[in-house]
Parts: sequence; C-alpha cells; structure tokens
Amino acid sequence: MTDQAPKQATLTIDGVDDPIELPIYSGSVGPDVIDVGKLTAQGYFTYDPGFVSTASCDSEITYIDGDNGVLLHRGYPIEQLAEKSDYLELCYLLLNGELPTADESAAFVDTIKHHTMVNEQLRSFFKGFSPSAHPMAILCGVVGALSAFYHDSTDIDNPEHRKITAHRLIAKMPTLAAMSYKHAQGQPFIYPRNDLGYAENFLHMMFATPCEDYKVSPTIAKAMDRIFLLHADHEQNASTSTVRLAGSTGANPFASVAAGIAALWGPSHGGANEAVLNMLDEIGSVDNIPEYINKAKDKNDPFRIMGFGHRVYKNYDPRAKVMQQTCHEVLEELGVEDNPVLAMARELERIALEDEYFVEKRLYPNVDFYSGIILKAIGIPVEMFTVIFATGRTPGWIAHWNEMISGPYKIGRPRQLYKGYTKRDYPS
Ligand code: SDX
Repeated sequence: MTDQAPKQATLTIDGVDDPIELPIYSGSVGPDVIDVGKLTAQGYFTYDPGFVSTASCDSEITYIDGDNGVLLHRGYPIEQLAEKSDYLELCYLLLNGELPTADESAAFVDTIKHHTMVNEQLRSFFKGFSPSAHPMAILCGVVGALSAFYHDSTDIDNPEHRKITAHRLIAKMPTLAAMSYKHAQGQPFIYPRNDLGYAENFLHMMFATPCEDYKVSPTIAKAMDRIFLLHADHEQNASTSTVRLAGSTGANPFASVAAGIAALWGPSHGGANEAVLNMLDEIGSVDNIPEYINKAKDKNDPFRIMGFGHRVYKNYDPRAKVMQQTCHEVLEELGVEDNPVLAMARELERIALEDEYFVEKRLYPNVDFYSGIILKAIGIPVEMFTVIFATGRTPGWIAHWNEMISGPYKIGRPRQLYKGYTKRDYPS
C-alpha cells in the first residue's frame, strides 16, 4: 500500500460553514469514485437521473472502457475470448473469476448438461399462454415460476444453494427459450440431449421435431455459441442493475433474474436486436436510407437508428466488430452473402459513420446491430431475438447477483428531488 494520504474531494456549499470532505476511492482501472454518503447527514442528495455518472457498487466481474472500445471479462478481452474460448467456459469464468482447468471445465459442462431438463409440470404452465404470446412474455413468466420448483435451494445465504441455482439457470434457459418458440409454433416441445454441445442443443430444441432430427452445421453452432458468448455480461447495464436491485431485497434469484428479463425486453436495451430488423424492414431499400438518417437526426422525430449508440461506448462496441465478422462467416456458409438485409445494414452503417451528427455524438454500432441479421439467417424468428439475448446474458446476471449476495450489501433504495405539492389540508 502506498503511504499517500487517501484522496479526497472538498465540497463547499453556500450557507454551509465547513467544507465537506468526501473520500475518493480508486479501482484497479477506470475512473475514481467519490463517496457521497456523508451528504445525507448534511441534508443533501446527489442528483443523477438515469445513473449516467453513478457507480452503484464495487465489482470484479467486467470492465468497460467506452472511449477506447474495451470490454474485459475478469481481465480477458472480449476479442480473445470470442476467438479462443467458448460460452460455457466464459460462464465458468464469470461465476468463478478464473478460467477452468481441463478437469474443472469437463465437470462444469457435465453439471450443466444434467440440469437442462425442466420440471414436467412447467410444460402445462406454457399451455396457459396464448399462442400469439411474445416469447419474452413467456420467458419472464416461466423463469419467475422456477422458484416454485426449487424449494431445496432458495437459501440465498447458502453458497451451495447459490451455486446450484446458477447452474440451473444457465442450463435451463435454452430449454425454456426453445419451449417459448415451440409453443408459438404449435409444435411439441423437444427434450434436451446430453450428447450435444450447449449451442447445438439449443438449436436442436428449437428446430428438431418428433418426426425428424435437426442436423446442426458446426459453423452455425459455433456462431450461436459466439452470440451467447458476446452477450454474456456487460457490467451494470439496465437489466443487470435490475437483477441487483431486486436481489438486494432478498428476493430469490429466479425472481431477480425474471426482473432482469423484463428490463432487457425494452427496445432501448435488449429489445434493440429485434428493433434493428424491424427498422431495416421499414427502411425497405438502400435508397431510403438518407431519409431515415434525417429522421434520426430530427429532434422532433422519435425515430432512432436501432443498434446504434450506447451509454458507455463512445467508440465502436468491440462486440459489434466480432458480430460483424461472424455475420460474414454465417452468410457465407449459408451461401447468402449477398443478403439484401445485410447490404442495407452495411450501407446504413457506412453512411451513419460518415455523418457529422453521428460523429459528433459519437454514435457507433452496438452489439445489437448485426446480431439480428445472423439470427434471421439461421432461421430464428425476430420475436425470439431478445430471448436469445436473455439466454446469453444469464451468467452475467447470476454472477452479479452472487457477487452482491456473497458479500456485505444493502437494500437498494434511491431517493428523489421532490417537486410535487407541499403539505395541504383535505378540503373540509
Ligand atoms: C444494449 O448498457 C449496456 O451495456 C447495454 C448493452 C448490454 O450489453 O447490456 O450494451 C445492450 O442495450 C445496447 C443498446 C441497444 N439500444 C439501441 O440500439 C437503441 C438505440 N440506441 C439509443 O436508444 C441510445 O443510444 C441508447 C439508449 C442505447 C443510449 O442512450 P443514452 O446513453 O441515454 O444516450 P442518449 O439517448 O442521451 O443519446 C445521446 C444523444 C441524444 O441526442 P441529444 O439529446 O444529445 O441531442 O445521441 C442521440 C440522442 O438523441 N442518439 C441517437 C441514437 N442514440 C443516441 N440518435 C439517433 N439514433 C440513435 N441510435
């Protein structure tokens, strides 16, 4: 430890005699933080709608440098993980903090395989949903309902219960996701198979039928695994912060993750991948792109280029670069590299990146811009895109929940700047 005096911020407030000394803490990398806890005793709150400048917690899981387009999971760059790792190895890394040995990896994969089935009672749960229900509505419901089946592991203060719950959620999410799809198709549910890899198994449950199996191409399975990997975690994004806030009340992890799924659904967050494809369909042709770019720049027009912009990345989202490369690989494998939707997306990206509005506001493609094109090419319907995002994000949600619950934490309870009526009497 250096013998330097701890850093402090000094706040002087009109009308307050003594300046307020606020401690400054440093992380291993990234901006220092100012601990404002003392302000409440002085009669002040901080004010930061949308938490643009607020660090809600300490964390050791994921680090993002938005200005330089850096994303690290437990210190490993996403580009290296996408090239050298796979989704289940990243799940292990996010949960445990270190890459697994060969034996640890084999044991983890085997554990996950043996938790992929869901309780048969859940099958009747699905029957209650309208066939036209959005699969995200179903996923929110059935993940929350999982807590009704696992009374044996809902003691959040028991590390073993937290561990098996993490394994159950990672293992069952693809099964529930595929069931959400099959329900909408009016097709029978397909059971998971233990002889298949994680992504391969998901595609099998999505596209196989009792009448014929689904042969998964290794390139498509690898692309699916990489899509899950690229979505695995992203520090304190809206849905992960929702999981932490729900979990901070002591709610069980299934309910907390269900809250995260609900938050992810919004088009400004995980719903953007579905919105990108809907936007490209609306634009219709390359010739219409300039008109839509102008709409996106018009303050009075709510239209935005979906898949563009990010709260943290003010440079290229490193996941988008990997996703773009994967997109080419998949479309080439499928022999549809001259895909008109991809051509439109690439032209939209080219024009936007040259436009001064996007340059000045530092708006770049994010993880959602290309993922939908890959998923559509694989044959996954647009309404399933956010379900895929939720499946990929599950290890991140549960790693953050576990990081919070396994250490000292408080119930999250933000304050407000009240602008309503002061006290007034009910009319006599
Ligand atoms: C994800 O947080 C995460 O880490 C999320 C995520 C994860 O992995 O968990 O990375 C996943 O959610 C990615 C983002 C997916 N959403 C979209 O692609 C939807 C389109 N993007 C925007 O809605 C927006 O960029 C947000 C919501 C993503 C970020 O919004 P911010 O940080 O609150 O920024 P902002 O809305 O204040 O925008 C800043 C300016 C605004 O203009 P001014 O008010 O300053 O004049 O940029 C403009 C915005 O109008 N702007 C856009 C734009 N995004 C922002 N203008 C046109 N098109 C866009 N896409």
